[in-house]
Amino acid sequence: MDERSEDYDVAGLAPEQLSEQQAEVELARLAAEILRHDQLYHQQDTPEISDADYDSLKRRNDAIEARFPGAVRDDSPSKRVGAEPAAGFSKVRHSVPMLSLGNAFEDEDITEFLARIRRFLGLEEEVEIAVLAEPKIDGLSCALRYENGKLVQAATRGDGSTGEDITTNVQSVAGVPKHLTGSDWPATLEIRGEVFMRHDDFRALNERQEARGGKVFANPRNAAAGSLRQLDASITASRPLTFYAYAWGEVSSPLGKTMTEVRANMASWGFTVNEPGRLCRSVEEILAFYRSVGASRAELPHDIDGVVYKVDRLDLQERLGFVSRAPRWAIAHKFPAEQAETLLREITIQVGRTGALTPVANLEPITVGGVVVSRATLHNEDEIARKDIREGDRVVIQRAGDVIPQVVSVLLDHRTAESAPFVVPENCPECGSAAIREEGEAVRRCTGGLICPAQSVERLKHFVSRNAFDIEGLGDKQVKFFFEKDMVSKPGDIFRLAALDLDSLTPLRKQPGWGTQSAENLFAAIEARRRISLDRLIFALGIRQIGQTTARLLAKTYGSLAKLRSAIVLANDRENDAYDDLINIDGIGPAMADDLIAFFAEPHNQEVLDDLAAELTVEDYVVEESGDSPIAGKTVVFTGKLETLGRSEAKAKAESLGAKVAGSVSKKTDFVVVGTDAGSKARKAEELGLTVLSEADWLAFIAPAG
Ligand code: IVH
Repeated sequence: MDERSEDYDVAGLAPEQLSEQQAEVELARLAAEILRHDQLYHQQDTPEISDADYDSLKRRNDAIEARFPGAVRDDSPSKRVGAEPAAGFSKVRHSVPMLSLGNAFEDEDITEFLARIRRFLGLEEEVEIAVLAEPKIDGLSCALRYENGKLVQAATRGDGSTGEDITTNVQSVAGVPKHLTGSDWPATLEIRGEVFMRHDDFRALNERQEARGGKVFANPRNAAAGSLRQLDASITASRPLTFYAYAWGEVSSPLGKTMTEVRANMASWGFTVNEPGRLCRSVEEILAFYRSVGASRAELPHDIDGVVYKVDRLDLQERLGFVSRAPRWAIAHKFPAEQAETLLREITIQVGRTGALTPVANLEPITVGGVVVSRATLHNEDEIARKDIREGDRVVIQRAGDVIPQVVSVLLDHRTAESAPFVVPENCPECGSAAIREEGEAVRRCTGGLICPAQSVERLKHFVSRNAFDIEGLGDKQVKFFFEKDMVSKPGDIFRLAALDLDSLTPLRKQPGWGTQSAENLFAAIEARRRISLDRLIFALGIRQIGQTTARLLAKTYGSLAKLRSAIVLANDRENDAYDDLINIDGIGPAMADDLIAFFAEPHNQEVLDDLAAELTVEDYVVEESGDSPIAGKTVVFTGKLETLGRSEAKAKAESLGAKVAGSVSKKTDFVVVGTDAGSKARKAEELGLTVLSEADWLAFIAPAG
């Protein structure tokens, strides 16, 4: 009898009918089965069985364990803590995504922010744009949902689309009303803001923690994060947290016409808003406010890391919309980086996934802005030469937000006589291949390509990273582990890990640092990613210059992996339509096209991709339903100066209706929209006999869909 059919029989037997051996087989099956349902329920929101069936699996597991205590597994579902079957919070999908903000560091960035808004909206320079400015609190963002004035759900930001349900935890957070005050709130109201810890609360917490030998937190932000996301809500309740409101998600009716108005409304409903807030009407006013907040930063009761500016008028916000993951109508103006002095012990060379050699400063560890820093980037060899940075130097380092720490300058007074300039190696420190700096390039690159282990590991790390395959439990450390053990050397190997492990004499669960639970969790997380969206896959390949935005653009243009592959291979010719189509995509220039073509022209890359594709289901890119859009799937070119729409707004609008916007006119163009002073493109359109529309015609044409 083969093992399968025996398993099958065992599952049909009552606990009292089982032999000890059969009990072991059945407990193993139940452990795996219950874990799978836990993950379907908690992580993927796609339960396959009813709660009652789930409970009966658990009861069967308990009954067998009661009869055979010696057969209880380490990973038994009965050993998992708490009433909830799986560790972790359940997931909440944000009906309106929770986005992040673009950053500004210099005054000029603010001038540019406003100029960009004017360009987008097609406004002249004299037109005033009022901006609401308020401090940027350094905590965790959180969404509170109210139905008929009653708090019904709280969620963390998570990845922006899905967060964690922290409804229980948030009950004890100061500034979270359980019932709204006032009366004019919408029936459905999702208020967003920041959960943070005040300085005095932070100090008191750390003193208590220290006194009882508990964890001491490095800074208030870490303390807030560690306190809010506690599975045991009674721990959260013992930690002093505060909530300030500054934004909103889903609402059943508008909250006002301006940010200022919404702020006042939020305050009247019982929320604390971020003070000081100021309505600014010019760059000068904005910068003056920024400096005054910066100067009084130390007097605020909590940490702030900058000032946020938001276009006050909500109708303008609506028109401005979003780029990638941040609104066009808001920006965070960060305070300057915190600096500190330390010893630069050694300069080492790191090899990236595209072979770039990056010098890294290894420092005597030092605390900067609440975080211990022991490494800083030196960017490239020119930067080292320009700042004359040497091993053994005392250096000033700085860190701003989540940016990698940098070496700002060298304290020459401390330099010793034996110090010597740093010499950049001419060979890759990882594989020994020549490292070459091409003309016009700032970086030196290892020419080892496929034989360089460092490049392979970095490519794999990128492949599983958050914006790519995002495989939980497969971080940098684990990738390196599997690579060094020869278990994963190319992306497709990841999806064969579980099968490999089944046949292994030294299975993962017996390896140091792993257990049955972590191994099974990892395999389940990998399994969950066999289905992947085309844009994520393209980004994951780690092609030079192809970031998330470009990956999305390519997915949208070509629709499927097969079409993308054949089109790019064809484009290698450079004189055909495939090439023209490629560089015609607005957002892809010849340099990017070169890198794409080079990637797909490499036979090894094709092999790796074939191997990977055999393991995956790659979802075709589906253009979102845009009603009865007359321009869905059509290619549009805008030329000349548009009167009512800014150029970028016109483009964003067309794309939101499912059209592709191209940079130049070809016979594949469906519509050419001409503004005033249109030049050669309008002429070419006439020559090709294309549909040419005025701006007014265009607006009328798309109006029914928009
Ligand atoms: S407005 C679309 N206002 O900063 C996002 N955000 O780095 C609109 N933050 O995710 C956000 N203080 O968690 C806004 N006064 C403030 C803020 C603020 C802190 C956070 C927020 C956001 C993050 C972006």
